Amino acid sequence: MPISTRTGPAGLVLSHLLQLHGIDSVVIENRSRQYVEERVRAGVLEQGTVDLLTEMGVGERMKREGLVHFGIELRFEGRGHRIDFQELTGGKGITIYAQHEVLKDLNNARIATGGQVFFEVENVAIHNFNDAQPKISYRKDGSDHELICDFIAGCDGFHGICRPSIPTGVLTEYEREYPFGWLGILADATPSSKELIYAYHDHGFALHSMRTLQIGRLYLQCDPDEDIDAWSDERIWQELQTRLGSEGWTLTEGPVLQKGITGMRSYVVEPMQYGRLFLAGDSAHIVPPTGAKGLNLAVADVQVLARALARYYATGSQSLLNEYSQTCLRRVWKVQRFSWWMTSMLHRFPDENPFDRRRQLAELDYVTSSRAAAKTLAENYVGLPMEWKTD
Ligand code: DHB
Repeated sequence: MPISTRTGPAGLVLSHLLQLHGIDSVVIENRSRQYVEERVRAGVLEQGTVDLLTEMGVGERMKREGLVHFGIELRFEGRGHRIDFQELTGGKGITIYAQHEVLKDLNNARIATGGQVFFEVENVAIHNFNDAQPKISYRKDGSDHELICDFIAGCDGFHGICRPSIPTGVLTEYEREYPFGWLGILADATPSSKELIYAYHDHGFALHSMRTLQIGRLYLQCDPDEDIDAWSDERIWQELQTRLGSEGWTLTEGPVLQKGITGMRSYVVEPMQYGRLFLAGDSAHIVPPTGAKGLNLAVADVQVLARALARYYATGSQSLLNEYSQTCLRRVWKVQRFSWWMTSMLHRFPDENPFDRRRQLAELDYVTSSRAAAKTLAENYVGLPMEWKTD
């Protein structure tokens, strides 16, 4: 019985996939169900993520309410340039559907099919994961519990307890912090464009995204330690108008429903496994948000893990489990590269010099004028194919 911890996308997708293979799991979450289902995160699903959720039987509402996009716009020097995903990738696109909506669908499906999902669990600790019988201890509703299991999936995010439970010296960390953050708003404002707009401007990066046909989601590059109180709604809209501005285009404003600042980092830990503990999603890697790869990468990890566990329970063979880290890391590093590249191309850096600015503009010019370069962006944005051994 594998145990996965936390009801983020990695843990819940894993638990659902395992159930489809007839394998039991328990999901342990320290937050409340309401918190998990309301916390605003990114909202771009790769084609492969959409296909997987659909195959898993949790895609019905996403199909109904999600917005399918077949391109994005890159905007610089006041002009927009469309990257046509459909044409460049042989028909692929992305779906705009908020992460917390995916989590609602997954929670409902897990709970409806008798899945064990425990919310508001405290004092979680993992033990013995380097031998045959790992154990998880936790406190729930005022009493202490222990779970004996075959495996532990550490899907508990960057600040979770799983990764730090691995003995010192086992893991190697690779990290880069960026000297900026994103100020994000959710706005009661009809999106001003059908597709997402990534803008590079003298004042810094801006992104026009959306959640629904009525609700906009917009971001501005800001200082990493910016005080959100220094940003009135009026100032936010003014800055969005400036950075996204383009002739003949108007940005529709509306009441700001929510605002917050996110830091940006690239982070990878290697290997993603220690004994019977498998790290997946943000517990093993963080990407900067440009390109919205975090959720999609987490889903890719657990697809690899579910398949390896299914093989183990069907045949007793550990071969796919032994390859888990290596298989995942190939994709992780390619997605890291893409997220870093998008971030580097589109943001102003405090230590940049005039050469860097010219180079960024040349990069944007190249990506929007060369079919080969546009295709590279498109195939990464819609999601690289899963690369695993077929046998
Ligand atoms: C969104 C977030 C992103 O990081 C991105 O690249 C595109 C869209 C979003 O929240 O809608």
